[in-house]
Amino acid sequence: MKFLNMAATTALILAAQVSQADTQQAELRQELDSLFLQDKIYRIQESDLNIREDLGESWIDNDKQHELSVIQDALDQLGKLMLGTYVIDDSSVFTTSLDEEITSGRQEYRILRDAHPKGHQCVNASFNVNNNAIFPNGSFLGSSANHNAVIRYSSASNTPQVDSIRDVRGGAIKVSVGDQNHDFVMLTSETFPTDNAEQFTNLVKVARVSNCINIIPDNEDSNDGFLGSIFGPIYDFNQRVLAVAQCIGNSELSILDLPGIVGAGIRFVDLQNSSEIESVFDKSFFGVAPYAYNDQVFKFEMSKADCENSNPESLGLNSSEETANRGLESNIQRVLSAGNACYDLNVISRPSDLTNKQAIETHTKTWDDMSYQNLPRTKVASVVVSQLEESTNIDPVSCDEMQFNPGNTLDNIKPLGSLNRARALVYESLSDFRKETNAYLRQQ
Ligand code: HEM
Repeated sequence: MKFLNMAATTALILAAQVSQADTQQAELRQELDSLFLQDKIYRIQESDLNIREDLGESWIDNDKQHELSVIQDALDQLGKLMLGTYVIDDSSVFTTSLDEEITSGRQEYRILRDAHPKGHQCVNASFNVNNNAIFPNGSFLGSSANHNAVIRYSSASNTPQVDSIRDVRGGAIKVSVGDQNHDFVMLTSETFPTDNAEQFTNLVKVARVSNCINIIPDNEDSNDGFLGSIFGPIYDFNQRVLAVAQCIGNSELSILDLPGIVGAGIRFVDLQNSSEIESVFDKSFFGVAPYAYNDQVFKFEMSKADCENSNPESLGLNSSEETANRGLESNIQRVLSAGNACYDLNVISRPSDLTNKQAIETHTKTWDDMSYQNLPRTKVASVVVSQLEESTNIDPVSCDEMQFNPGNTLDNIKPLGSLNRARALVYESLSDFRKETNAYLRQQ
């Protein structure tokens, strides 16, 4: 009896401590939200958004005011989700290469990126522009010149996870030209799960805000059991529709959004599952969304190329890199310890047979697929990733603090399409939010 009393008292004390910790966390989240997030949401105005109708851009539902509210909503949702990434106790964030900084006590808390939180490494590179037939001499992408650059390699999953899990990887390049920069922000997938920012925000709401993450099964090993094996894709599809319908009840969405959300969820999983576990030096990276230089509309992508001074060992993942938590980082360090690695930056011009909607506002299909041909690529630059040198290496915290933005361009190169319009504003606000919040937390 005495033992039972003691056990009950201990349980009560523990519960009180846990709930006190929870309350403190909730209060801190609230404080950070009102200090650093809310003003950024309402600072975005209609005047921050403009489109080139002459090049085929159009507002979501042809309504600029609606698009503005979609972007504000995205910022609010994603910002609040970032507040959930505190580094506390056994947070999965400890799986990232930032763990030494964190456990050393220098940074008790750290807010990570909402997307691509796991950085594999930032590396120095040289961005060597070639004269080419697309951009005129005198322009940034048309004038032969060598510029310094930094590349941040990352994994897309919003929760950092081991590198042996299939995931879309990111490659963000910052090219320095004098005291200005141009950012290329790319993925290893050629397409995106949604065509516009509203569909993307709906997916985030259902999957993450309403805590319905299970509508997106983790990976292809997810087990649908006996019924799943008999009815295969039909069973799978129906299960997802049912699950999403339940989740919609918990969010502010309309049932009319259901087909769009299910489609986006399926594409999201397909993109993850089709991502091979490979070295970043064996991957191609895609800009996905279009850009314009004057009246010229194009997309960019980066593909593996031979180098003069590359490491004579294989650049691919070796067997231990393939299975390690930070296998991609180990691979980058091994390859760059004894040589460099190279890519070509290529440009695809808008094909003439696509409608404006297809060419500018569609991101779930490639231009090649929509125009039923392999469109020609024009090389505009070589990207030479430098051999690692102790004196110039970029440490993980500095890498994490870097800000990349698809709207950060030179020569008035203009990002086009709904996703790019949202990204330019969302990345700017949220990376400022991340930096300000981390600086504040470090002073606590
Ligand atoms: C064309 C489609 C997209 C591509 C190619 C893309 C790619 C990337 C990449 C590579 C990063 C990591 C950048 C880095 O290393 O700092 C990133 C970060 C991020 N992405 Fe995207 N993304 C896309 C669409 C979106 C959309 C539609 C949203 C939401 C509206 C979004 C929200 C974010 C956020 C919030 C970050 C973190 C920004 C920061 O804190 O610095 N992305 N994205």
